Amino acid sequence: MNKNIDIDPIKIPNKNVTIEDIKDKAKQISENYKDEAIGGYMCGDGPIPSDILFIGEAPGKNEIIEGKPFVGMAGKTLDNYLNLANIKREDIRITNTCFFRPIKIKQGKTGRETISNRTPKPSEVELFREVLDAEITLVDPKIIITLGNTPLKRLTKFKTIGECHGKLYFNEELKRYIYPMYHPSSLTYNRKESFKIAYEDDWKNLKEILKKVLTAK
Ligand code: URA
Repeated sequence: MNKNIDIDPIKIPNKNVTIEDIKDKAKQISENYKDEAIGGYMCGDGPIPSDILFIGEAPGKNEIIEGKPFVGMAGKTLDNYLNLANIKREDIRITNTCFFRPIKIKQGKTGRETISNRTPKPSEVELFREVLDAEITLVDPKIIITLGNTPLKRLTKFKTIGECHGKLYFNEELKRYIYPMYHPSSLTYNRKESFKIAYEDDWKNLKEILKKVLTAK
């Protein structure tokens, strides 16, 4: 628990949790967080319940402005691959592991400030444990697709995405399937053709896996 948060907790009830409870809690945590600079917060988007839940890392600038996950550069990449796998965005729920935008502020030589995204710290991910767990319960997906290392480490015992991407696992704790994928922005950082091919293969595989998981009783 974060020591700097000294507020009345909004307890998320185990049963009959509503999306409003989840939004209230995410707001309360974000507005009371004082350890590091953050650039606003936002919650998930898409139908509830939903058989498919994608979980990203944390929102960036565009997501905060629009109040929706994955609408910036990474979102454009995600949309392209959703198309490839025949998945309609309006049919899936998308959320994040950390609900606020973690930022770093740098002062240039001229005194000009630049603000950029950073990976959420483990303690920041922990702040939203209860919120994300409640959202998973509410959305009640058959399969969770984790995007990148942050949601992977939060929900599984895997240490890196490299060791498990593109394969289907059953998570006994959550009693749900988990399909780990690289984060869409990894395509921006890794320009190798071999990586692009491996990334596309994971999406093609997902298309086949969904046919089985979504029809299984
Ligand atoms: N990257 C993420 O992990 N989540 C978003 O919502 C946007 C970009």
